[in-house]
Amino acid sequence: MKVLILGASGLLGQSLMREWGGDEVVGLSSSDVDIRDSATVLRVMENTRPEWIVLSAAYADVDGCEGNQELAFAVNRDGAINVAEAAKRTGAKLLFLSSDYVFDGKKTSPYETQDPRNPQSVYGRTKAEAEVRLQELLPECCIVRTSWLFGAGGKCFPDTILKLAATRPALDVVNDQRGCPTYTVDLAQAIAELCRSSATGIVHVTNAGNCSWFEFAREIVRAAGLPTEVRPVSTQQMARPAPRPAYSVLSSASLQRWGIGIPSWQEALHRYLKERQS
Ligand SMILES: NC(=O)c1ccc[n+]([C@@H]2O[C@H](COP(=O)([O-])OP(=O)(O)OC[C@H]3O[C@@H](n4cnc5c(N)ncnc54)[C@H](OP(=O)(O)O)[C@@H]3O)[C@@H](O)[C@H]2O)c1
Repeated sequence: MKVLILGASGLLGQSLMREWGGDEVVGLSSSDVDIRDSATVLRVMENTRPEWIVLSAAYADVDGCEGNQELAFAVNRDGAINVAEAAKRTGAKLLFLSSDYVFDGKKTSPYETQDPRNPQSVYGRTKAEAEVRLQELLPECCIVRTSWLFGAGGKCFPDTILKLAATRPALDVVNDQRGCPTYTVDLAQAIAELCRSSATGIVHVTNAGNCSWFEFAREIVRAAGLPTEVRPVSTQQMARPAPRPAYSVLSSASLQRWGIGIPSWQEALHRYLKERQS
């Protein structure tokens, strides 16, 4: 199977390139192809002729999207449409990366794939609108919603916490947003399995279990054996440009339907911290 990964230089893209075994994998970054440019996207697809395209490329800075709406929609929605149109013309299958931020966070039990979208942020709106357009254009496409990514090769929450914990006696971390941390290694492996199973439709892929950012930070500090105190604070106390859902836990039922299991976020975190040391 030939696979084309768009966004190969990103946090997830690097894991996809490292973890994907047994297939021919081509990875491109924004300097190879800007997904906003439909003619280049089509040319790349015609030259590469992949069976699967994994569209991990995005403007993924949630706060940055609030102040750069035009760019956010151009990359995350219109760029995705360009890729879907090229996939349609060349007969490739498409797996698109989406986000838990398509939901408003008002539920108190895990979000199922068919729950209504109601994004609260610009980033969430770009992803929600891309999902709708992609399903119209390519009804057989696979949409993977994931959340709270961490891993090697880019900025991520555990790295930020460890850096701060190294110099401060105490850290204040938000305790009223709940979600599912996800290790890019585990997500990359699940994506490869989904492609091999010719998956279609929306699939939620996160590590198992859920926590608040405060609980996540506390576990990071504990696992690293640091004496830093982690203190719970509210979202209101830590104002940020983009609103976040208070609860964006994604149900694992859709992943289980494809026969794919995934470790807990705690186990994944410990593996990541070991990987970081080696
Ligand atoms: N990070 C999270 O917590 C999270 C949560 C839920 C969903 N997601 C989604 O998961 C996917 C992967 O996220 P990530 O954290 O790996 O993102 P990331 O580290 O920010 O990487 C983004 C990738 O997209 C590429 N890119 C940006 N603009 C582009 C453009 N106009 N044309 C082509 N490529 C472009 C970047 O290339 P350059 O390096 O060349 O700029 C980079 O390879 C994204 O779709 C994101 O929205 C992420």
